[in-house]
Amino acid sequence: MSTTSSMLALLLSFLIDKTHSNPIAPAPDGESALAPGTALGPTNTSGPDVRLWAPNTPCNDGTPAEDVVSWVALGDSYASGVTYNNWPNGNLDYDQGDQKAINACRRIVDAYSVQLKNDDDTSWAANKCPYLQFPACSGSKFDAIDGQLNQVNDRYAPRFATMSMGANEVGWVPVVKSCIYHDDLNFDYGPDFPDPNGACAKEISNANTTILNDDEYSNTFKDNFIGAFRKIRDYNLFSQNDDFRVFVTGYAQFFNEDDPACDNYSFRPVGGPKITTALRQAMNTLVKTLNQRYSGLIAAENDPKVVFVPIDDGFQGHRFCEPAGSYRDQRINSWFWDLAVFDNYVPNMAQPQLCDPDTDPSCPDVAAGNPKYGGPVNVDGSVGGSPSLTRIFHPKRPGHTAMEQALKSSIKANLKVT
Ligand SMILES: *[C@@H]1O[C@H](CO)[C@@H](O)[C@H](O)[C@H]1NC(C)=O
Ligand SMILES: *[C@@H]1O[C@H](CO)[C@@H](O)[C@H](O)[C@H]1NC(C)=O
Ligand SMILES: *[C@@H]1O[C@H](CO)[C@@H](O)[C@H](O)[C@H]1NC(C)=O
Repeated sequence: MSTTSSMLALLLSFLIDKTHSNPIAPAPDGESALAPGTALGPTNTSGPDVRLWAPNTPCNDGTPAEDVVSWVALGDSYASGVTYNNWPNGNLDYDQGDQKAINACRRIVDAYSVQLKNDDDTSWAANKCPYLQFPACSGSKFDAIDGQLNQVNDRYAPRFATMSMGANEVGWVPVVKSCIYHDDLNFDYGPDFPDPNGACAKEISNANTTILNDDEYSNTFKDNFIGAFRKIRDYNLFSQNDDFRVFVTGYAQFFNEDDPACDNYSFRPVGGPKITTALRQAMNTLVKTLNQRYSGLIAAENDPKVVFVPIDDGFQGHRFCEPAGSYRDQRINSWFWDLAVFDNYVPNMAQPQLCDPDTDPSCPDVAAGNPKYGGPVNVDGSVGGSPSLTRIFHPKRPGHTAMEQALKSSIKANLKVT
């Protein structure tokens, strides 16, 4: 077998084994995020977390309450981030020193909530010390909110919570698998979008139906979404505070859909569907539908305690398929992760060329399963999973910065910090 085909076989085996259920949501269904009582974030004031305080806000567990603005970051992998095994700079994990938490939740220091905590601009917090509790966990669905809230301590009465959640519920993962990656070799995905007989069109339609389902007699996405933000708002540690806020973030459209640059590209290394303008428009429409649903349901709640935070505008110019030049350039320009297992590309070709980790040291993302690069860690703690795959279609650090900026504006507009 050639190196190329063996590399592809390796990749595909990871896609099938590790991401069969869910490349966006690496935590296995039913696995609780953390054992009760597991430390979350800033509990060790002499430990690694201290360096995460912004330099102008030297606060720790001894800081007087009146000098602190405390909050709680809840949600799924859009809130937690998806760690990719400390690569390349070795300090990506938020839960440093706690391998169990790393494996379970994959929280990263790039996450928007951590960036907010570290932001030199603390005007949003009336220049007080930002104190973050961070139970958000990759793979979570709405029913994980109770478990995340149970991990919150009352050391500093939290003033607000953030929630980023819903994509796992909507069926975004099957859309990405069916429309972009075709990862399951044993599955016939049928004709490409927009053919209604293909898996892609069907999954887009299913997700759309899930988002918009208004049947009051079934347990709908709508009910679960409303239930989640109400549970946060009404949680016993928060409910007595009339000024408490729940900030619910939206999602960002993944594609530039006006430029034809990607029409002939596939994001799958070999033989995948083309990222056509029509496909990009349809997937963007799904994100817009979800955002409208969230903002509409929050508006209907008519409660100043619940605030929708649109994040989409912040990604303008940094989605997939921006007119950036080559296939590789658009990838680098994008604030979302693509399948970066293959880091070498033949210029102007529709498909990337596979790189060979045995001969090419510039092929680092092949760290997926390659002990030579330290061996990544699976959600169950075993070695050999593929963080390069689980992070796909999630924001890179600058994407989280865009989310942080949107949140900061919304806090300034909607939260009284005195
Ligand atoms: C706190 O963190 C420091 C530095 O990582 C470590 O040496 C120490 O053992 C930790 N203390 C506790 C109580 O975990
Ligand atoms: C989504 O559902 C709405 C309402 O049923 C429908 O009008 C729209 O065409 C659907 N869009 C897709 C892409 O299926
Ligand atoms: C895509 O490929 C077709 C057929 O080779 C070609 O006519 C078209 O110009 C290409 N489109 C772009 C945007 O490169």
